[in-house]
Amino acid sequence: MTTVFVTGASGALGQALIQQLSDTGLTVIAGSRTPKPQPGIQAVAFDYDRPQTFEALKGVDKLVMIPRPADVIADQVMIPVIEAAKAAGVKQIVLSTALGVDANEEAPLRKVERALFASGLDYTVVRPSWFFDNFLKPGEVASIRQGVLVAPASDGKGSFIAARDIAAAIIAALLDSRHNGAAYTLTGPQAVTHAEVAAALSSALGHKVSHLDIAPVEYGALLTKAGLTDSQVGFYQFLYELTRIGVFGAVTSDLEAMTGQPGQDLAGFVAEHLGAWQ
Ligand SMILES: NC(=O)c1ccc[n+]([C@@H]2O[C@H](COP(=O)([O-])OP(=O)(O)OC[C@H]3O[C@@H](n4cnc5c(N)ncnc54)[C@H](OP(=O)(O)O)[C@@H]3O)[C@@H](O)[C@H]2O)c1
Repeated sequence: MTTVFVTGASGALGQALIQQLSDTGLTVIAGSRTPKPQPGIQAVAFDYDRPQTFEALKGVDKLVMIPRPADVIADQVMIPVIEAAKAAGVKQIVLSTALGVDANEEAPLRKVERALFASGLDYTVVRPSWFFDNFLKPGEVASIRQGVLVAPASDGKGSFIAARDIAAAIIAALLDSRHNGAAYTLTGPQAVTHAEVAAALSSALGHKVSHLDIAPVEYGALLTKAGLTDSQVGFYQFLYELTRIGVFGAVTSDLEAMTGQPGQDLAGFVAEHLGAWQ
């Protein structure tokens, strides 16, 4: 039986992946700082901050590496995982990074990509755009229910993609050796502004949702209040700066090339998850 280990298994992308992996016949091991058993899935401790948990990679054939959010030291914690995986006999790594990291050689996730390229392991890299699923996080849901979509995005567009579509691309990489040695930029089929997201929510929910284009400094204060560290706050402010200048508005056909499907669009995502915001 081929075994696949998924890091970040409890997150939006990790959960979408775990669900779809159950149809593949691969044996799935879900890595989390707080492993929770799920039917048919082996749950084990995995923490980028605790190298002793990398022991769990022994006997694993394939590894999917999902970074932790806003990690400004991703290279320091993820490159040792690539090394540990190689030493443990892992044959293939599928690494998820983010749209645009290949434009900045100093970006921590770009350093992780380069370490993977040089590892000698089979690999595929996927670089997703903003996830639609961010609009389903508890803080966003509470805000949308009150009629406000908060983002210092101005009229910068995002080529939002559903986590389940990224998961489908990762599974294609796990199952089809044609993706070996390749890197893909994964986006949804269209780029939309936050005002357009708010308008789609308004018409589907039947009450007004407005985009609050908050100043970056005020947004930072909100994130600090929510418990994020200074470096995480700076990271998200930087991502929105890139959003405002259009970096995350790029649309590619890579998802369709990998999965044969164009991916979910804004209207489809809103229709599917309407109940979450009601
Ligand atoms: N969301 C986006 O718009 C977006 C866009 C582009 C790229 N990305 C990247 O994709 C990743 C996944 O996004 P997501 O929305 O699925 O994130 P998420 O729902 O916030 O989940 C993040 C995951 O990180 C794991 N994690 C946190 N600290 C960890 C640690 N020390 N060691 C191991 N795992 C740790 C958490 O797992 P446990 O708590 O179970 O350990 C959780 O499953 C993000 O972290 C980001 O790097 C996200």
